[in-house]
Amino acid sequence: MTVQLPGADRAETERLRERIAETLRRSRRRTLALTECVDEAELVAQHSRIMSPLVWDLAHIGNQEELWLVRDVGGREPLREDIDQLYDAFKHARADRPALPLLNPEQARDYVGTVRDKVWDVLAHSPLRGNDLVHDGFAFGMIAQHEQQHDETMLATHQLRTGEAVLSAPPTPAARVRVTGEIVVPAGEFTMGTDTDPWALDNERPAHPVFVPAFAIDAAPITNEQFLAFLDDGGYERPELWSERGWAHRVEAGLTAPEFWEQDAGGHWWRRVFGTMQPLRAHQPVVHVCYFEAEAYAAWAGKRLPTEAEWEKAARFDPATGHSRRYPWGDADPDDSLANLGQSHLEPADVGAYPAGASPLGVHQLIGDVWEWTSSDFTPYPGFHAFPYREYSEVFFGGDYRILRGGSFGADQVAARGTFRNWDHPIRRQIFSGFRLARDLRSDEQ
Ligand code: AVJ
Ligand code: FE
Repeated sequence: MTVQLPGADRAETERLRERIAETLRRSRRRTLALTECVDEAELVAQHSRIMSPLVWDLAHIGNQEELWLVRDVGGREPLREDIDQLYDAFKHARADRPALPLLNPEQARDYVGTVRDKVWDVLAHSPLRGNDLVHDGFAFGMIAQHEQQHDETMLATHQLRTGEAVLSAPPTPAARVRVTGEIVVPAGEFTMGTDTDPWALDNERPAHPVFVPAFAIDAAPITNEQFLAFLDDGGYERPELWSERGWAHRVEAGLTAPEFWEQDAGGHWWRRVFGTMQPLRAHQPVVHVCYFEAEAYAAWAGKRLPTEAEWEKAARFDPATGHSRRYPWGDADPDDSLANLGQSHLEPADVGAYPAGASPLGVHQLIGDVWEWTSSDFTPYPGFHAFPYREYSEVFFGGDYRILRGGSFGADQVAARGTFRNWDHPIRRQIFSGFRLARDLRSDEQ
C-alpha cells in the first residue's frame, strides 16, 4: 500500500524514510563491527556472569526487530517464532544465557540479515504516519535505539573481556577551555520530559512542569584526579562516608577503586581500557563507578548527587526563553564538536573538550562522555502510559534502580538526548558511569 500525500508532505516523508534508513544502517554497522572483531569462541563465551554472550545480544537485536517491525508494523509472517523465547530477556537471566540452545554465530548473522531485508521492504511501504506506532517513524526509531542500547551493552562486554585489544578509535579531543567550579541554577519551574520529540520513549513522556528550588551543580563531571583525592584520603576505608547499603556492598564486593583501575609497585595508577593499559588521565571524567561510590564521594566532598529533575533542568533550561531545549546546545542533532557519543572514541574526553556543547547556563559535557548517576529512583512521570509495551519501562518502575542521565561515549546519538532516561542497579559499574555533584544554596547565595 502506498499512500498518496500532497507534494510537500510527500517530500518530507521521503526525507524521514531516508533518515530512518541511515539510522538503521549506522546501528547495524556498529553491531557487526562489535561482533566481527572476535572469534567464534569469544562470541559464545560469557566474559562476565552479569553480561550475555555477544552472540545472544546479536540475535536478540534481530528478534526484537522481527517482533516489532516485521510482524507488528509490517504484518508479515513470523520468520522464527520458535526462537522468540530464547531471546526474551525476561525469560532467562544473563548468567543462564550461555547454556541455552542459541543460534550459533553464523546462524545469528544470517537471521539478523534476513530480518533486516524484510524491514527494508516494510519501511518502503510504511506511510510513517497515522497510527501511533509508525507515526513519524517511531517504531523504527525505537528499534534503532534498542539496537544501539545493546551495542553499548556489547561495548561494556568488550571492556570486561581480557586478552588482546581488538577495538580501536582515534584519541579523544584535548580540552579547549578550563572548566571548574559550579553553576547556580535559579529557582523556578521548567518543563521536564517531552511531547514533541518524535522518537522519545514512553518513560520520557509527557512533558510536565516541575518546580526546582535554586541549586548549584558542577560545571563538569568529576575527574579521575578528583576521585583519586577521595581514594587517597581513605575514602574506601571510611564507613561514615558511605550509606549503610553502600558500605555493606563496598565490603562484600571488596571495592577499593573504580573498576579497571590498577596501581603499580611504584604507586602509580593505571586504567585498563579495552585491553590496553594507560596511565590514569587526570582530567578525564571518572568512569566505571557504581552509585554507592558516587554517593560516598559526594559525602566526602560535602555535597550530594543531583536529582534527575535538577540534572535535566541544568541540561535543558534556557533562561532567555524559559523553554526546555532538546540538548544543552539547542535542538540540533549532536556532532563531533558538541559531544563525545557513538563510540567515536573509546573513552571519555577530558573536561573542557566540548565547549560548544555547553548548556545556556554554562554546564559542560552533560551529553556524552559518561552516564551520570542521579539520586532519583526510576518512576513514571505524571500521566505516563506504557507504549508500545510494558516491558520497556513500566515493569522497572519502583525497582532497585537509580536514574542515569546524559549518555556515554558508547551511547549513540539516537539514544542520547536531554530527556533520555537510563536506569540501573546502584551496584552496577561495568556500564560507562560517572557523576557530577550538586548542592543546595546557602542562604547568603540565594
Ligand atoms: C534502558 C539500558 C536499562 O539495557 O536493560 C534493552 C535498554 N531494554 N533492551 C537495558 C533495553 C530492552 C535497557 N536500559
Ligand atoms: Fe533488549
